[in-house]
This record gives sequence, structure tokens and C-alpha cells, in this order.
Amino acid sequence: MASPLRPIRWEKGVLFLLEQRLLPFKEVWVKCDTVEKVARAIEDMTVRGAPAIGITAGYGVAVAALRSKAKLPAFFKKEMEKSIARLRKTRPTAVNLFWALDRMQEKLDALKGTRPADQARELEKQAIAIHQEDEALCDKLGKYGAQLLAGCRNVLTHCNTGALATGGDGTALAAITTAAKKSHKLHVWVDETRPYLQGARLTAYEVAHSGLPFHLITDNMSASLMKQGKVDAIIVGADRIVANGDTANKIGTYALAVLAKAHGIPFYVSAPTTTLDLSKKTGEEIVIEQRNPREVTHPQGYPIAKEDCPVYNPAFDVTPGKLITAIVLETGVCRPPYIRALKAALTKSKATR
Ligand code: MRU
Repeated sequence: MASPLRPIRWEKGVLFLLEQRLLPFKEVWVKCDTVEKVARAIEDMTVRGAPAIGITAGYGVAVAALRSKAKLPAFFKKEMEKSIARLRKTRPTAVNLFWALDRMQEKLDALKGTRPADQARELEKQAIAIHQEDEALCDKLGKYGAQLLAGCRNVLTHCNTGALATGGDGTALAAITTAAKKSHKLHVWVDETRPYLQGARLTAYEVAHSGLPFHLITDNMSASLMKQGKVDAIIVGADRIVANGDTANKIGTYALAVLAKAHGIPFYVSAPTTTLDLSKKTGEEIVIEQRNPREVTHPQGYPIAKEDCPVYNPAFDVTPGKLITAIVLETGVCRPPYIRALKAALTKSKATR
């Protein structure tokens, strides 16, 4: 069995990130020893995936805390809050980032007035806890998600939701790999996931690493596969799930959900409760990140359109809750109506934390 992929390493107060922009061709580790380097790594997608950017942001605060020269608690607090504010500005859609930073802020508030060096150590512990907890959440998501996929021969997934996107084995991809341990017949359709190609570059790399049979497809091939009866289920991750089950995830997810409905195929979302944002009633309230036009005109740096070509490049779309067959959380499987089910799941997760 190959050793598990882990893209985030914390070593003696320094954060190391696997440079995901170079995968699958090169495995390069990036050293982040300032909060600015951590923030840039999130922005430029050296690290990506909702849980992974939350974990990284937590470590960003720890990096700043351990390097602070502040002698007085008030100065230390000011410095930490500046770092948290910088990290909040990196990417707007995945709520895990804000969840992790809120948790670091809460810790900071609880430590008020104590010696800065002691506070730094406690903030480091908190960041490590966020990372370790996410690993455990992934195990549960794998277990519950696999139950939904039992008996499936062909499962389709979009974007990257595996170890590279989380602190453990993943969300949707963990469900697939866990299900595959029980059914040796499971085969995966991996969407390439234009424009940033997380499927082609990262999911194909991860699935190959796990030894599962799979085929990489371009995004526009999924409809015809569904029509031919070659897709038994679709499972994806999430960047933000709001109160009614509306789910922001990688651009292209909504199209898959519509297609799944048209072909009578179950469409599942898998995410930890750290991806829930029940303060928002519907998906219309979610801020969708717009990214650099060059990701569309120059995928992987290769020009496919003229430099000045007008481009629309939203990184995410919102799938209405009513198109989602079930949402897998670490607390179990939620079915519609989501308003009640998600609330109960969040309460349950807080009680066990
Ligand atoms: O832009 P990215 O690569 O950060 O987007 C990632 C996704 O959309 C994933 O599907 C989502 O974060 C779930 S990751 C477990």
C-alpha cells in the first residue's frame, strides 16, 4: 500500500506546502515562514481545496505568532489580528478558511493578556488541532460516503477532493477510495475540470496513486456517458453549503447536477461541517471568486486564445439543494429537506467537538 499523500507539513514552526501547481509533473515543497508567504500560497493556489486552505490559514496565524517580536500582549494581539485580516482576504468562497480564522481569533481572545510567547505556543497548538481534526473528519466522510456508493460500478467526480484538498484522505474522493476497498469493480470517471484542471492534474494523480481503475475525461463528455448508462453516481466536494442545501463548488458542478437529474442518477455532495455556512439562507448570498483571465486563455501557461480575448472566469458555481440527492457530513448522511437536517448535523458536530 502506498503511503498517504499529505500536502501540508508543519515542521518546527515552519509550514511546508506541496506546490500543487507543478503536479503531477514535479513534487516540490514550498517553505512558508511568513504570513505573507502563506497568504500568497493560498491566493496563487500552491495550496487549494476548501479544508486545505482552512488548515493553511490556521498555520499562517501560527507562523506569524511564533515570529512576533512583540513583548506586550496588546501589541501581540494587534499583530495577530493584522495577520488574520490579511489571510481573510485571500480567497472568498470556501467558508473553511473563515471558519479556521474565526477559531484562531477565538483562541487569541481567550488568551488575552497572557505573555506573547505563551500565546504563540497556544496558537500553534490550535493550528495543529485544526489540521489533525480534519484528518479524522475525512475518515468519517469516507465511511459514510462509501455506504452511499455501495454497489456502484462507475462513479464520476469533479475537481479534486482528495488528500491534496484536505488534511486527510479527502471528502468525495475518500468516499470513492473507501467504497473501492469493498468493491473491487469500482471505476472512476475523472472530470478534467476546466479551466484550472484540478481533475486532470490532481485527481488523476491521486486516483493513480491509490491504484483504482479510472479514466480521465474532458468536462463535456459526461452527458454522453450518463446517456449510455455508464455513470451510476456522481459525488463531489463543496466549498460552502448554506442553510437550504445550496452548495458552492468548483465551476461545472451545477451542470453535472442538472445532467444527473435528467438521467435519474444520484448526485451526492461530501464535506465536513466546517464547510457549512448556515448564516446564509440561499446560494444567492455566496460570494463567487472571479479568477485571472489567463487561467482560461493560457491553461498551464500554454496559449489557446489571444491575450486580449474577453474572459469570464468564475472559480465556482452554486448547485441548488433541490438537485442534491444527499449531503454527506462527518455526522452522517443528510437527506432533504436540508434546512432541518443541516441544522441538526451542525448541533451534533459541535456537541462532539
Ligand atoms: O479552486 P479550488 O481548487 O480550491 O477548488 C476546490 C474545490 O472546488 C473542491 O471541490 C472543494 O474545495 C472541495 S475539496 C475537499
